[in-house]
Amino acid sequence: MPSPSPLVDLLADDVAAPWWRQAVVYQIYPRSFADADGDGLGDIPGVTSRADYLAELGVDAVWLSPFYPSALADGGYDVADYRNVDPRLGTLAEFDEMLAALHARGIRVVVDIVPNHTSDDHAWFQEALAAGPGSAARERYIFRDGTGPDASTPPADWESLFGGPGWRQVTEADGTPGQWYLHTFAPEQPDLNWDNPEVRADFEKTLRFWSDRGVDGFRIDVAHMLTKDLPDPLPSQAEIDALPFDGKHPLVDRDDVHEVYAAWRAIFDEYDPPRTAVAEAWVASDRVPLYASPSSLGQAFNFDLLQSDFDAAEFRDVVTHNLELASRSGSSSTWVLSNHDVVRHATRYGLPPLGRDSRGRGAVKQGSAWLRTGGTDPELDREGGLRRARAATMFLLGLPGSAYLYQGEELGLHEVAEIPAVERQDPSFFRTGGDDMGRDGCRVPLPWTTDGESLGFGSAHAHLPQPAWFAASAVEVQESDPQSTLSLYRAALALRERLQTSESLEWVETGRDDVLHFRREGGWSVVTNFGTEPFALPAGDVVLSSSPTDDGSVGAATTVWVRTI
Ligand code: NOJ
Repeated sequence: MPSPSPLVDLLADDVAAPWWRQAVVYQIYPRSFADADGDGLGDIPGVTSRADYLAELGVDAVWLSPFYPSALADGGYDVADYRNVDPRLGTLAEFDEMLAALHARGIRVVVDIVPNHTSDDHAWFQEALAAGPGSAARERYIFRDGTGPDASTPPADWESLFGGPGWRQVTEADGTPGQWYLHTFAPEQPDLNWDNPEVRADFEKTLRFWSDRGVDGFRIDVAHMLTKDLPDPLPSQAEIDALPFDGKHPLVDRDDVHEVYAAWRAIFDEYDPPRTAVAEAWVASDRVPLYASPSSLGQAFNFDLLQSDFDAAEFRDVVTHNLELASRSGSSSTWVLSNHDVVRHATRYGLPPLGRDSRGRGAVKQGSAWLRTGGTDPELDREGGLRRARAATMFLLGLPGSAYLYQGEELGLHEVAEIPAVERQDPSFFRTGGDDMGRDGCRVPLPWTTDGESLGFGSAHAHLPQPAWFAASAVEVQESDPQSTLSLYRAALALRERLQTSESLEWVETGRDDVLHFRREGGWSVVTNFGTEPFALPAGDVVLSSSPTDDGSVGAATTVWVRTI
């Protein structure tokens, strides 16, 4: 019998423990990762050129934020063609090359599916504009007549999540003011009508298109918003705000969205190994298992750590609660500290704590006020923030379940606050008149080298300006420094596999409110000191620590991994 090829070995799946359950998934924001053709915008060949970097980092998979044709009204989450690559980012052939390069290194690939809305450049929306009221083309979106004597008032006073009104009036083909369409996000992102079987069929085609090409899984954008039930007349924003999120809400987290995902699950299971999916669903925690269940998407992001202060009680509560939720759904838990939508965690932990309930909403806005001052007030504790971020990440990487990392956190990057208004790109910045500074600060292109036009990102000026202080965090600098954040991430990921034998943990009481200690099967202990007073090291060998432990203790804001047998 011929021996299996190395590729088969590297991607072999274990039926009992599918690859994704305890995977480390690294999020790439393609426009800001690496720019191979020197036009200032990161691209797919740029990812391929850094395949060895990803392999050395030790990630199991990458998740690529959208790379599809897009006018970039929302950083690519306004998709004009779901089955293609933006020509500025590459070609389908280059996508295949990237996939092959990553697979050859044992790295799986997850792509982003954006089903709630298309771009207004999408052929369907253009067709809807041309076809006029009452047409089948308009039925793919959510069009309504305006109200008032000349229908010039929107059908409802709803607000867009990026600020400003949530309905926009179109100009009909004959030049007259026409109907209105719903856009939960930017006006360039018209919401699709998921009651329309054609919409459902087209997304199924998209899932097959990428699965056939060999992608391993999908991240589903705002997975809780697709299906809607819009009565006539439409309720007001105030009436909507008063409704409970009980599965029957007209706009959010409706029970019937899971009919869509049951159909998708059947498609995922046609493949071997089955394609995976992770839901981006900002829903009440007791509803997360619905998305994470094996009959639905199979996994869901848990954003609770990302919304917590660096605080022992909050972290313990979040972990206990989410492991329980995961066991309820039969999925594994996911852990996230940073992504392309929030202020980087090194910066969050360098600002005064929120001091709120760990599951309180709105914490994702942490840093907003600081961003509005250009990052000057309050003064950012850069060193302390990074120290706490390293400790929090090592805590997270010690947990059972899968870890989602965001590009640049392995370099300990801070949020970039000093982006001039003229260079900003995020629609939420413009639609709120700068009240919400938006998410550009965590999307600044990565520094690979200490010099060069865009610090090794590419050969041209980067599409978002890199601050001078980025150079000190460049990959080039950190690779040769054993104490660097990059070296810490590499060491942790190399060791992590050995911790992930079972999906459970056992808390060990520490006698201190500000110190957490948990044990994993196989003699591993993870101890995090969230406080300032040193804590005595547990017995065993310190295998890794986020800050030095030379004095025999776990110092302030430090995590250690200890081998106890
Ligand atoms: C969630 C994505 O993470 C975010 O970046 C995007 O703006 C919205 N969904 C709309 O697609």
